[in-house]
Amino acid sequence: AAGVAHEINNPLAFMMLGVDAIERMLERGGSSLEQLRRMLDDVRHGVDRVAATVRHLKAFSKADGATGPSVADMAEVLEAAARMTSHEVRQYGRLELEVPDGLLPVRGDAAQLEQVFVNLLINAAHALEIKKTGTVRLGARPIGEVAVEVTVEDDGSGIAEADLAQVFDPFFTTKPVGTGTGLGLSICHSVVTELGGEITVESELGEGSVFRVRLPTMRRALTPASPARRAPRSRVESRKVVVIDDEPAFLRALERLLVPDHEVFTALDADAGLALIAQESPDAIFLDVMLPGTNGIELYERLGRERPEMASRVVFVTGGSARPSVERFLAKVKQPVLHKPFEAERVVALLRRVAG
Ligand SMILES: Nc1ncnc2c1ncn2[C@@H]1O[C@H](COP(=O)(O)OP(=O)(O)O)[C@@H](O)[C@H]1O
Ligand SMILES: [Mg+2]
Repeated sequence: AAGVAHEINNPLAFMMLGVDAIERMLERGGSSLEQLRRMLDDVRHGVDRVAATVRHLKAFSKADGATGPSVADMAEVLEAAARMTSHEVRQYGRLELEVPDGLLPVRGDAAQLEQVFVNLLINAAHALEIKKTGTVRLGARPIGEVAVEVTVEDDGSGIAEADLAQVFDPFFTTKPVGTGTGLGLSICHSVVTELGGEITVESELGEGSVFRVRLPTMRRALTPASPARRAPRSRVESRKVVVIDDEPAFLRALERLLVPDHEVFTALDADAGLALIAQESPDAIFLDVMLPGTNGIELYERLGRERPEMASRVVFVTGGSARPSVERFLAKVKQPVLHKPFEAERVVALLRRVAG
């Protein structure tokens, strides 16, 4: 889930920077044991948080083994998902399965994809429950050779227009406490988009809903991930940097990373950040998109209107945004985006890029 990814990527980001900083301190020597202990405490705090999140996550995901890049047979995935949920659906209505032979394999882990369709089918079963009857159709078809489209269609309760934009948001649920977690669709969304796919919904209240999932097939070559290379340490010019993030440990980590070479100012929210920007006119601004109160996007838009030269110095920082609308913004925005977790070198490279 995007929300869950955020919960993991945030602590991972400061853990990675913390470990990096500890390594550099040990190489350089001269740091006190007290300093090292404080940094280790931050790392441990992150480890504890990730562990807690993963414990929570296991309840939702069967795929807790290693999940490398793999391929899945869609027909098998859909049959397994239908098998696992047929009891739930048949309590209230019928389950129809229409999967043609010869679908190309898709990219992804079979157990994880199964979870996606189990979530969609369980939701459909719930939608029938409200009407006490109905049909759930699970279908698949090839989109040329590039993708497979799966549809999960029900003629159950449907979704109110006002809710439609929020159904993929983490923790959005219309179900009573104890029934819904509101995480099902957000997990579906993040699994599918991470595989380069797309999930959409159409619905009408009282009529039913159609969820469409498009997944790229393995026919097209995967774009190889750019190898992480350690850039040689070159002489750096000192810059003024403002960092705005609501995670204190992240601020400390970024400060430690940049301070030997740069002047760093930190803020925990947009208002404090704006004040710093006004005061310091920094060369670069690292801006968390999800801030409490005024969020990073609003702050950026305000800068665009009031101080456009400052807006062009923004590097967005995201721990896997919680909302599809934020992801859409980040996909389109001109400014660079730093995805947590990241390597120290990446921060330095982006700083150089926006500071010119
Ligand atoms: N097939 C469907 N028919 C009607 N409403 C749906 C359907 N699928 C999802 N929803 C709506 O979207 C919300 C979020 O779904 P989900 O993320 O799976 O969380 P949960 O099922 O725990 O509520 C549901 O509470 C429901 O309001
Ligand atoms: Mg659900």
